[in-house]
Amino acid sequence: MTAPTAPFTPPEADDPLPIHGDAFSADPHATYDRLRARGPIAPVEISPGVYGYLAVGYRAAVYLLRNTPARFAKDPGQWEALKKGEVPADSPAALMMHPRDNALWKDGPDHARLRKAITTSMARVDTHALVSSVNAIADHLIDVFSTEGKADLVAQYAEPLAMLTVIYLFGSPPELGEQIVYAVTRLFDAGADAAQANADLEKACLELTRLKRERPRHDVTSHLIEAGLTDSEMAQTILLVFGAAAPPTASHIGHGLRRVLTDESFAGSVHDGVRPVSDALEELLWENPPIPNYSPLYALGEQSFEGVHLAPGYPILVSFAGANGDPGLKVPPAARAGNRGHLGFSAGVHACPAPDLARVIAETALERALDRLPGLDLAVPDSELRNRPGTFLAGLTALPVMFHPDTRTAIGR
Ligand code: HEM
Repeated sequence: MTAPTAPFTPPEADDPLPIHGDAFSADPHATYDRLRARGPIAPVEISPGVYGYLAVGYRAAVYLLRNTPARFAKDPGQWEALKKGEVPADSPAALMMHPRDNALWKDGPDHARLRKAITTSMARVDTHALVSSVNAIADHLIDVFSTEGKADLVAQYAEPLAMLTVIYLFGSPPELGEQIVYAVTRLFDAGADAAQANADLEKACLELTRLKRERPRHDVTSHLIEAGLTDSEMAQTILLVFGAAAPPTASHIGHGLRRVLTDESFAGSVHDGVRPVSDALEELLWENPPIPNYSPLYALGEQSFEGVHLAPGYPILVSFAGANGDPGLKVPPAARAGNRGHLGFSAGVHACPAPDLARVIAETALERALDRLPGLDLAVPDSELRNRPGTFLAGLTALPVMFHPDTRTAIGR
């Protein structure tokens, strides 16, 4: 699999394509295709002046993820430009990729310990209670607009539903939870105010830890405390899980609603032989994964993959979207619904620890919206829907819909 190592050529010397900016966000797959024509892993500009590689081939992505931490480190301590102070402190990409004291950025035993605290806390989540809570949250949101006959299902449904669900999982007071999710979303957008978002985020996570140390309950925050994390680890782990959970789940729900409204095979009831929403959601994890590019890795020494030289010291991002769309993969669209070989939840030791919770939340949210909003349809042509800007988080900017207004009161339902 590995080829002889080529002479050192840093990515910025090799005409890297940008994976940021309006042109990229308008059609990311055009960039992935151009990169793939250069090789399975190709040099990119991650944000202005920040260089690295992007794995756009499926085999390459899996190779990188499965060889972490043996050949590739997740720890950004390996990032030369960051060590030399050459990455602007407020660079949006740097803020999404700098070392933090949590599982996402650790290797080996440190990662195993922090990840175990997360997985044991997640395993204690009662999924029946979760479904009831998501339904209650969905009803509460829908009650606000059900009599109006129109809504934006991103701003008024998918985003607040994912946020309120994570707040519920963490047992957080609503206001504090909203502060955390709002700051996380600003960070993911990799916009100009990312530095302020980062500071707001750390402060709110510490506050939640303090509250739960004083009054533990049956929730993820209290379970993480029980697992023995320090205050700093708690703040960084809360930040990680909020950031890893709410924005992608919201994007997934938005994409899923769009799909069931525009694809006739999902119109109607499963009892009439139409396909369940879970099929739409699994297909979308192939075609439009909520986290399209992430998992920055660092080569431990000079490395190569299928003839591509990988210089140490540079971030190598994995394009989950690019890898899923690799034409070398022989998974026809019709075989995608029941096939979990996509990289929408990543793979290897850092793979998403909560894919089943994510599936439960998204499915419940979709089904409740379809049940509660008869005649649901897009209010604008599908071609007018826009992708949000940014490198790391996919999603729609808005999903304007119309439906038959509910003339009954919430109590009479
Ligand atoms: C549809 C929704 C979701 C998607 C598409 C998704 C996808 C991902 C992906 C691609 C990664 C790897 C990131 C990387 O290595 O850079 C990841 C990691 C992670 N996810 Fe998810 N996720 C979703 C929902 C959730 C939920 C609901 C939770 C928790 C309640 C969660 C918790 C995490 C955590 C803690 C990690 C870091 C794991 C580690 O580094 O060991 N995710 N997720």
